[in-house]
Amino acid sequence: MPKIRKAVLPVAGLGTRMLPATRVLPKEMLPVVDKPIVQYAVEEAVASGIEEIILVTGRGKILIEDHFDRAVELFETLSRRGRTAELERLLAETPPPGVIVATRQQEPKGLGHAVWCARHLIGREPFAVILVDDLIEAPTPCLAQMIAVHERTGGNVVAVMEVPPEHTSRYGIVAPGKDDGRVVEVRGLVEKPAPQSAPSRLAVIGRYILLPEVMDELARHEVGAGGEIQLTDAMAKLIDRQPFHGLRFEGRRFDCGDRLGYLEAIVAFAAKRPDIGAAFRDILARYR
Ligand code: UTP
Repeated sequence: MPKIRKAVLPVAGLGTRMLPATRVLPKEMLPVVDKPIVQYAVEEAVASGIEEIILVTGRGKILIEDHFDRAVELFETLSRRGRTAELERLLAETPPPGVIVATRQQEPKGLGHAVWCARHLIGREPFAVILVDDLIEAPTPCLAQMIAVHERTGGNVVAVMEVPPEHTSRYGIVAPGKDDGRVVEVRGLVEKPAPQSAPSRLAVIGRYILLPEVMDELARHEVGAGGEIQLTDAMAKLIDRQPFHGLRFEGRRFDCGDRLGYLEAIVAFAAKRPDIGAAFRDILARYR
């Protein structure tokens, strides 16, 4: 079975839910404590054994590429001033040359279209997709948990979690088959169903392992819910042809594309930081 070597990070969305912060600043560059959201995703990919990270960017997103570059002047200044701890951290967090590549989605036509923009960089091998907005705090990186399942089941694997019935219209929802409580067979997928027509409460969240045939479906450019080219629709076409599973991953997911989800992520990550956690919890207590 081929190893999962590549991950696509689509970062071309407009981030309208976070306006006005995202008028100029890509939402992926908003910090959770002191790290931009996109860096958490890159670290998860690397920790899961990914060797090549493909950013699908758009207009105004160049800062994301710059973030992973060597900031020569900054590094020299830190070195001259003897700020070795900061310098070493930045050096350790800068991926080696060639690990991050970028392509552009010239118009935000939907997540499916963004993934398709990476087709030549993916070629004909299975690959991962990480939605950077979905920040996951987990003992084992979520993507690594999924790769372990993929190695056992083969085929497509998506991360799933139970959502309240009133939230089904925000997600792709799984029609479940055989279910051992952790890994569930995916029999069908419906994008953003109303609660009464949802086949379950199991929502697909922003981690996917996909076989390359999904690119052939995306190439049809079929428009789905919200007038966008949906990844869910292309995945749904593969269900009868390829193994397809959902993993109830171990960990907590924060939707950083949404104001409250973003704030909760900051609180959760700050509260457990060894350097500032105790002081931060004292501050929080004042706002109860
Ligand atoms: P979202 O719908 O959460 O992102 O898409 P958005 O469109 O930026 O957000 P809002 O609703 O306007 O606030 C999920 C992911 O897919 C990417 C986004 O960048 C995000 O990571 N995406 C979405 C693209 O890359 N291209 C698109 O055309 C749409």
